[in-house]
Amino acid sequence: MTGLIDEDLAYIWHPCAQMKDYETFKPLHIVGAKGSYLHLDDGHRIIDAISSWWCKSLGHGHPQLKQALLRQIERFEHVIFANTTNKSVVSLAKQLISLNEGLHKVLFASDGSSVVEMALKMSVHAHRIQGNCQRNHFMSLSNAYHGETLLALSVSNTDIFCRDYEALLLPVHFLKHIPYVHSTEDPMWADCSAIWPDILRQLAPYQDTLSAIIVEPIVQGAAGMRIYSQDFLKRLAHWAKKHGIYLIADEMMTGFGRTGTWFAYKHADITPDFLCLGKGLTAGWLPMSALLLTDTIYQLFYDDYQRGHNFLHSHTHSGNVLAAAVADEVCRIMRDQSIVKSIEGLSATLLKCMRRVEEETSCVMNIRCIGAIAACDLIVTKEQAHRRLGYEVYQKAVKLGALLRPIGNTIYWLPPFTISTDCLNQLCDITIKAIKDVMSQPGY
Ligand SMILES: Cc1ncc(COP(=O)(O)O)c(C=O)c1O
Repeated sequence: MTGLIDEDLAYIWHPCAQMKDYETFKPLHIVGAKGSYLHLDDGHRIIDAISSWWCKSLGHGHPQLKQALLRQIERFEHVIFANTTNKSVVSLAKQLISLNEGLHKVLFASDGSSVVEMALKMSVHAHRIQGNCQRNHFMSLSNAYHGETLLALSVSNTDIFCRDYEALLLPVHFLKHIPYVHSTEDPMWADCSAIWPDILRQLAPYQDTLSAIIVEPIVQGAAGMRIYSQDFLKRLAHWAKKHGIYLIADEMMTGFGRTGTWFAYKHADITPDFLCLGKGLTAGWLPMSALLLTDTIYQLFYDDYQRGHNFLHSHTHSGNVLAAAVADEVCRIMRDQSIVKSIEGLSATLLKCMRRVEEETSCVMNIRCIGAIAACDLIVTKEQAHRRLGYEVYQKAVKLGALLRPIGNTIYWLPPFTISTDCLNQLCDITIKAIKDVMSQPGY
């Protein structure tokens, strides 16, 4: 008899995977998920240490979110969102706007990449309407990641995702020498004046041709959870404003509390022109993304149809009502239960645990932590350089009881905000054992 895994491998191409890897380490057969745990068909449960690709901020199976979804399903599940409206989407839009002072309008899409595309396109369009047709270039940060569609990939600087499509990507300027920090205690966090002249030199040649600068505010996730100076973000935002360049904050991963503030741009006390949200927007229940923008930009497009200033960009599931009902409830839960405030305590525990990993393994360095994110890098010897150590740690950790999914040789935790201290200590023990086992194996 053919098993489920055989059938899966016979028909399915999994995301972000070399399918041959599954010959030796099969996909995990999930039969349930609750809180911070994933339940496997063999009866074991494992800790979801990365909130299922950074989206399950409130854990799996949250009862209030389930109720919100069921309530909406009883009414209707999806209706074209051009020319129609409904209570759930309007309520959600009001909440999103009230959480982001200075942003006034919201458009919906289905995922991160498509909302990033939308922001980039709209920035160029807005400049065109103002007669600034030369403003059609983008700037991004080195090590950036903004998604997989071609425009989103163009503003990404992550070699393994970009290199095979280089011929298709737009030329984009990537700012180098980003002032990375380990935590908000790092002096560079509050003052990056020492490196700013170098950044200004890089910015200057593009001040008249840039349409927008796009950033992952404060933490670059796919680059290995790299945290950078809030002062750098503040200076960059002010420079962009001074030169009439839009700032796009891509908060796919950092939004909805992940860095200890509702949105990471708030660390720098700035307001971006565009804000891209997803993942935590529905706490990972359903695919939905949102683009928030200023009224000034909105007014540029608001005109008689014949004038041609129309943003004719659509996605079939824009404003999907099931996702909207859940997202609306996510905002409510986060507000009513002061979830963002609770992340302070979680952050301290995460850091303590990561320090224990360092002490007990002596195999990691560069511990960094902000909000509900903690990360470190494996110390790799010359003999180990050819091994996929992060992948080996992943395999070992799964066997020990945690879905830990390192990025290269970066080990990180990005758990649901609702994870218990017991569960976190368990995750810490598993991480230590997995690292020790992998790193003590002789090179081969
Ligand atoms: C900062 C950032 N932008 C965009 C994306 C792409 O989002 P999606 O995978 O929903 O297309 C991601 C995904 O991880 C991300 O972290």
